[in-house]
Amino acid sequence: MAGERGEQIPLARPVLGDAEQDAVIEVLRSGQLSLGPRVGQFEQAFAARVGAPLASAVSSGTAGLHLALRAVGVGDGDEVVTSPFSFVASANAALYERARPVFADIDPVTLNLDPDAAAVVVGERTTALLPVHIFGYPADMPAFERLAGRHGLAIVEDACEALGAEHADGSAVGGRGHPAVFGFYANKQLTTGEGGMVTLGDPVMKERIDSERNQGRARDMGWLDHDRLGFNYRLSDIACALGIAQLARLAQMLAARARLAEHYREALAGIEGLQLPCADADGDKRGWFVFVVQLPSDADREDTVGKLAAQGIQSKPYLPAIHLMSFYRDRFGHREGQFPVCEEVASRSLALPFFPEMSEGQLARVAEQLRAALGRS
Ligand SMILES: Cc1ncc(COP(=O)(O)O)c(C=O)c1O
Repeated sequence: MAGERGEQIPLARPVLGDAEQDAVIEVLRSGQLSLGPRVGQFEQAFAARVGAPLASAVSSGTAGLHLALRAVGVGDGDEVVTSPFSFVASANAALYERARPVFADIDPVTLNLDPDAAAVVVGERTTALLPVHIFGYPADMPAFERLAGRHGLAIVEDACEALGAEHADGSAVGGRGHPAVFGFYANKQLTTGEGGMVTLGDPVMKERIDSERNQGRARDMGWLDHDRLGFNYRLSDIACALGIAQLARLAQMLAARARLAEHYREALAGIEGLQLPCADADGDKRGWFVFVVQLPSDADREDTVGKLAAQGIQSKPYLPAIHLMSFYRDRFGHREGQFPVCEEVASRSLALPFFPEMSEGQLARVAEQLRAALGRS
């Protein structure tokens, strides 16, 4: 029962009902499990949802980032300016093309890449900006677009966490024309199990992405004819059917997440030193994905995670700074102190259970146990 002592409360849980089951079974019965009609249907419905002219379904957010960077022309020896406070895939995608991810520090309030800091590291080899809408809060795209315009740079947006987010002008994140990449892993606002979508405005780029996700095959080519290097980054019809069904309930799921976030704010108010996710400001609107708090600076995070786990409550340090991961340290010689805002946030941040069907009782128990774990009950 909701919120009962001893009940396990996971970090995330997808909402899957009869509509998803029926949609998947219909595809199974049709016998066309991939390269079928659901792909285009999902792409069109998703593009319409974010107000983008076009969309390409791909096998993951990571695959989408890779293909989007290729589509805007990032290649060997280029530099891509991006955020160190992100999931590692946004930086890795540049490495797949032998380009170098160049980091700049983040804004202490929104936790997104700071456009002024990004401007400082733009150099001769920079070819693209890769802002990340972290935790679903819109990055300052007008500022990045001005920066890109001044230096002739491409933009790829990592919107993997930002479905449902809106910019101050009322446009949805992902609808500005340059490629924006969404992810559909099981904890996301919308899930296909694994999956992703690139929204974009340029039909030539879409054609390239569609070809490269399918082994480099052009639309009108025979099954085994290929005119460029490609990958298998396809999203199956099974996954697309799931995505279409999820889109139909998206508004409801986003509203439930937004409501829970408000309840968390009330339940966690007044804990000294605890920082909550920034509120929407200046017309920007978060698409709620995770509820990440920053613990008081004197709190022991590991101990807090352990105490919550002992009560059956999952929590997770989220996210670690990319530049301080061992692979990035070894490869690029990064060290502590390079991006102090990011490092401070990364050392204190903790994701709490957050999913549309979380009950108020469960949320109250998480809040109560967090207070107790921090010695502030
Ligand atoms: C910010 C960010 N970028 C990229 C990705 C990669 O997406 P995927 O796991 O679908 O490859 C994720 C997903 O966790 C993410 O949160």
